[in-house]
Amino acid sequence: MTNDPNQHLWWLASRASGIVAMLLLTAAVLLGLMLGGKLSQRLPKGLARLLGAEPRLVSKAHEQLSIAALIATGVHGVTLLGDAYIHPTLSQIAIPFTIEYRPMATGIGIVAGYIATALGLSFYARQRIGTQTWRKIHRFTLVAYGMAVIHTITAGTDGASAWLRTPMLASAALVTVLTLTRIASGSPATATARATASGVERAART
Ligand code: HEM
Repeated sequence: MTNDPNQHLWWLASRASGIVAMLLLTAAVLLGLMLGGKLSQRLPKGLARLLGAEPRLVSKAHEQLSIAALIATGVHGVTLLGDAYIHPTLSQIAIPFTIEYRPMATGIGIVAGYIATALGLSFYARQRIGTQTWRKIHRFTLVAYGMAVIHTITAGTDGASAWLRTPMLASAALVTVLTLTRIASGSPATATARATASGVERAART
């Protein structure tokens, strides 16, 4: 191993794109959790004002961040092929748990990448799948996010370093809080059903 950074360009490119993928995925998940229901009530006041609490804008940002996260994940995996130290084959980066370098930790990242890609692309098939079904399966994005966090902490060279671990765990805590808040307040579909039911009840009483 040499200290010359030029000898490690592919590895550095893979690490950098991994971190970018994680940042984009986190931002996409956070915006996704803020979507639905009364947006202005879910967003922090400053952010809501900045965005004009315009659901369509937030939805577009969520979609574009998700696409960018998928592209960055692809770059992260493919650039590993050039790394002289890990030196994986194409099948090792495609088939989870077959790589020699930290197979479990890396495998979790590969599975996370597949889940995120499948769920991300399912957005464009939601008319065919049906919106309700699509919403249900889309929730599993949180599983991919959780796996990506575990992957980063266990596979990354800097997984144990505070600069990477602290923001990662802080954002994972925020995602957990927002998820629990969302479960507690009911999904938009549940809220709509509840509102409809109470409207029908009121109409029946009058
Ligand atoms: C949602 C998908 C993924 C995300 C968000 C992600 C993110 C990350 C991050 C942030 C790191 C830490 C980099 C560092 O410590 O500097 C990392 C490391 C790593 N990832 Fe991923 N990753 C994902 C999927 C994949 C895939 C598909 C592969 C394919 C082989 C992969 C292979 C690796 C390897 C080998 C490392 C260790 C690199 C090292 O630090 O030496 N990851 N990943």
